[in-house]
Amino acid sequence: MNSKNKLGKSSMVNGKFIVVEGIEGAGKSSAITVIEKILVQQNISYIKTREPGGTPLAESLRDIVKSASHEEELTQETELLLMYASRSQLLANRILPALKQGQWVIGDRHDLSSQAYQGGGRNFDDEVMNAIADVTLKGFTPDLTIYLDIDPELGLSRAKARGELDRIELEKIEFFHRVRNKYCQIAQQDNKITTIDASQAMKAVHHDIQHVIERFITSMDV
Ligand code: TMP
Repeated sequence: MNSKNKLGKSSMVNGKFIVVEGIEGAGKSSAITVIEKILVQQNISYIKTREPGGTPLAESLRDIVKSASHEEELTQETELLLMYASRSQLLANRILPALKQGQWVIGDRHDLSSQAYQGGGRNFDDEVMNAIADVTLKGFTPDLTIYLDIDPELGLSRAKARGELDRIELEKIEFFHRVRNKYCQIAQQDNKITTIDASQAMKAVHHDIQHVIERFITSMDV
């Protein structure tokens, strides 16, 4: 990025990677819209990604992971490996090149999802999770993660109202409680993750997101 933003500063540096996380129905899409508006106002160029997916090959993996109509059962190990295969493609072919060019990246999910869904939901050991993350990410982490926290009953009821549920959304409610617990546990220990109460009225959630992003931009001194 080599352009003046509204703060009047010029920069020629790597972009920043902002990730939005949360269980189904937490409001990730509208959170991303709020973030986009702020980046546009600040004259910061960005791309958006989603996981699993985000490249042609990774989108094919997303279809496999989300489809509820496979003729054979998708094992938990396959699910785990496909999440990381997708992430590897996305990181190498879109996220890293964009950041290098100075573009910011807004991610709809990233590695924290695997830690929460596969680590928490599916009960994979921390050791296994750390090993596969190390191989795939080689220490790469987002600059900021916004975790939208919501009770699974409320989130799932919102997701159901949107239409047909995919393979993961069809899991029992206990699965989503384990996912949420893991999200909360990790978020508490990592100061690059900000938790926002997503059960508030939408206006309040958006206000909180705006505050976090503006504070982040100011702290980056972009
Ligand atoms: P979504 O993008 O519509 O939220 O769907 C992605 C689904 O995949 C969602 O149920 C969460 C799940 N997921 C994992 O289980 N592990 C992961 O690493 C990622 C990125 C997503």
